[in-house]
Amino acid sequence: MALPIGEQSPELLKVQDLIWNHIYRFISSMSLRYATELGIPDIIHRHGKPMTLQQLVDALPINKAKAHGVYRLMWILIHSGFFIEEKISEDNAVMGCWLTPASRLLIKDESFSMFQIIQACYDPIALKPWDHVKEWFENDESSAFETTFGITYFDYASRDSKENESFNELMVKDTQILSNVLIGDCKKIFNRMKSLVDVGGGVGILAKAIADAFPDLQCTVLDLPHVVAGLQGTKNLTYVRGNMFESIPKADAVMLKWILHDSSDEDCVTVLKKCKEAIPSKDNGGKVIIIDMIIGNKKDGHRGIETQLFYDISMMVFVNGKERTQKEWEKLFFDAGYTSYKIVYELGLRSLIDVYP
Ligand SMILES: C[S@@+](CC[C@H](N)C(=O)[O-])C[C@H]1O[C@@H](n2cnc3c(N)ncnc32)[C@H](O)[C@@H]1O
Repeated sequence: MALPIGEQSPELLKVQDLIWNHIYRFISSMSLRYATELGIPDIIHRHGKPMTLQQLVDALPINKAKAHGVYRLMWILIHSGFFIEEKISEDNAVMGCWLTPASRLLIKDESFSMFQIIQACYDPIALKPWDHVKEWFENDESSAFETTFGITYFDYASRDSKENESFNELMVKDTQILSNVLIGDCKKIFNRMKSLVDVGGGVGILAKAIADAFPDLQCTVLDLPHVVAGLQGTKNLTYVRGNMFESIPKADAVMLKWILHDSSDEDCVTVLKKCKEAIPSKDNGGKVIIIDMIIGNKKDGHRGIETQLFYDISMMVFVNGKERTQKEWEKLFFDAGYTSYKIVYELGLRSLIDVYP
């Protein structure tokens, strides 16, 4: 059936706008990329107050004939909420660019900086698989990453120490903000627990923060050998090399932060069953703590859901994983033999879910 829009309808112009908007969405990403690569947030931050565009151009190590490019870059980034214009002179005649909460996260050396995440996302290793998605749809491989490089992402990271380091750093940066919120606001989650295993815990940034905040809690990080090799534990933090599909150390609780979205439903059920073997019964305090997205949480709003859907496609392209709706999560839990679950906390786009054996 033909679409109910006549050829002379103004609706046609609207949908044309929508298509142009999508064609050019990568320009939002690229503007963010180049503003951070040029160090614009750092320069404004160092200046300590709103900067005129001329001052910004003067401070940038660029060919000054390209000043118009800086104006235009700032224009789109102000429009997107990364910078704001503030008056510099009393009569409002001179305006300067200033940081917003979002651009504060782009300052290179700030502890919560997302600078390294942005860098990693535009690395050729992260960009190349996007050119192979159509091919992946037609072949038998598990992800477009595998179609591009011939091996899965985590195998690639185990063979390329630079990629391993960059990915682990990206995870550390992602986890820093979340771990502060988790430990500040959700203390009761860990209160009466005696032992915890962070499965796929990376270099242990979250487990270390929990171990420091709860000195009587014995924490273990389980991850692949190339990730935890050489890492030193503490009095109440131990690193274990292993494979979550094979075995998980015993503990009161198992935590899976950003693990299950890397895997297919079948693999998730396998891991969840392994987790169940590692923990005591619900009555004895056993639980699995999952930190992952639940697509379509009402609070997330249009942009939040869109970001979750971006992640979903990204998981498909890189690792044969997916983001899940509450219904899909529920099915995984019950298929793996768990009896109940509770969504305990919203952590931005992600949720903390307790799952009980
Ligand atoms: C998306 S990262 C999450 C890291 C960490 N939980 C965080 O959120 O910062 C996935 C982690 O799972 C680990 N991983 C992948 N396959 C694994 C396996 N079979 N056994 C144990 N860990 C695995 C990876 O090495 C990586 O550290």
